[in-house]
Amino acid sequence: MAASSSETTELRLDPDAIAAVDASDMLADVAGLPEHLRDALWKVESANLQPWDSPGGLVVAGMGGSAVGGALARAILGDHASRPILASRAYGLPAWTTPDTTVLCASYSGNTEETLACYDAAGALGARRVAVTSGGRLAELARADGVPVIPVAGGFQPRAAVAYLTVAALEVARLCGAGPRMGSEIDVAAEHLEQLVVEWGPEGAEDSEAKALGRALRDSVPVIGGAGLTSPIAYRWKTQFNENAKIPAFTHELPELDHNEVVGWQGAPALGRFAAVFLDDSDTHPRVKQRMSLTCELIADAATSTHLVQSRGDTAVQRVLSLVLLGDLVSLYVAVLRGTDPTPVDALETLKRRLAESQPPQP
Ligand code: F6R
Repeated sequence: MAASSSETTELRLDPDAIAAVDASDMLADVAGLPEHLRDALWKVESANLQPWDSPGGLVVAGMGGSAVGGALARAILGDHASRPILASRAYGLPAWTTPDTTVLCASYSGNTEETLACYDAAGALGARRVAVTSGGRLAELARADGVPVIPVAGGFQPRAAVAYLTVAALEVARLCGAGPRMGSEIDVAAEHLEQLVVEWGPEGAEDSEAKALGRALRDSVPVIGGAGLTSPIAYRWKTQFNENAKIPAFTHELPELDHNEVVGWQGAPALGRFAAVFLDDSDTHPRVKQRMSLTCELIADAATSTHLVQSRGDTAVQRVLSLVLLGDLVSLYVAVLRGTDPTPVDALETLKRRLAESQPPQP
């Protein structure tokens, strides 16, 4: 990682400092990623699903923390996806969804109205449905309709159940003929992530990559750039900064951002403090790698800091999840450094409550 700003080191990010702010122990859920992966595999197995054929591919319908699993599964499968796989975040399904498409309805709570609308739409279409949820209305409906339910462990914030949602999407992709078997790669990735939790977690060095990034970003608006496999991870970083650290954050993709956003940085210093983070991977197109370095150079004076972050590991599962873990930890560290409890998402809950008080949208 290259940082262009001077980074302060006076604020410790050790277990005691974190516990003083992290009242509901979000850290335990973030550091639990390796264990969640193993448990998630077991939970899919417990649903006892037999393979089927979906020539129309897979739509993963969900919102927020429950949608990310579909997007990450798509990134992990890359060229190994033999049919379309799409994460859909909306009240309805993509226009091309047919009875030959599998629709995985993903809602941690089981009560998200957009996802419930997609569940109904898939039923009306005659598409094969699978639900992944910890309960709620989605579980009730699925049980009544004989739709298989992949269970998710309870007691998390939905965004902390990322491993469960990702494994469910990967496994449903395999079952419906859209992707290969990934079980052993997921097991190997869990071991790899355990090492990264030691390196980047609160017991790790105070100058670890995760803690250094947390310090560098604590007083800036992060603008995160991804490319290819790292694009959905850049979006995950943004949402984790929003929900854990309670700060605005934005994301964009390369090479596209070099055709517009790179110019916008010129006005950044007059508007506020913006930091740029680019998520790189061993599989990034060589010209895009070059673009990341050049863009960092060009915007260095306008940004409070610029960071080029590399994924870690050999397989796509390892590399994707290494960056997910890093972003989750960095957002948690920024929350702690800002004295903000990472767990509550009051605005989001108020919004859901207010919507529930008014009439639900008619189909
Ligand atoms: C909260 C979070 C949110 C929820 C979203 C959908 O931690 O991440 O983005 O995931 O509001 O709710 P669920 O996941 O219950 O369908």
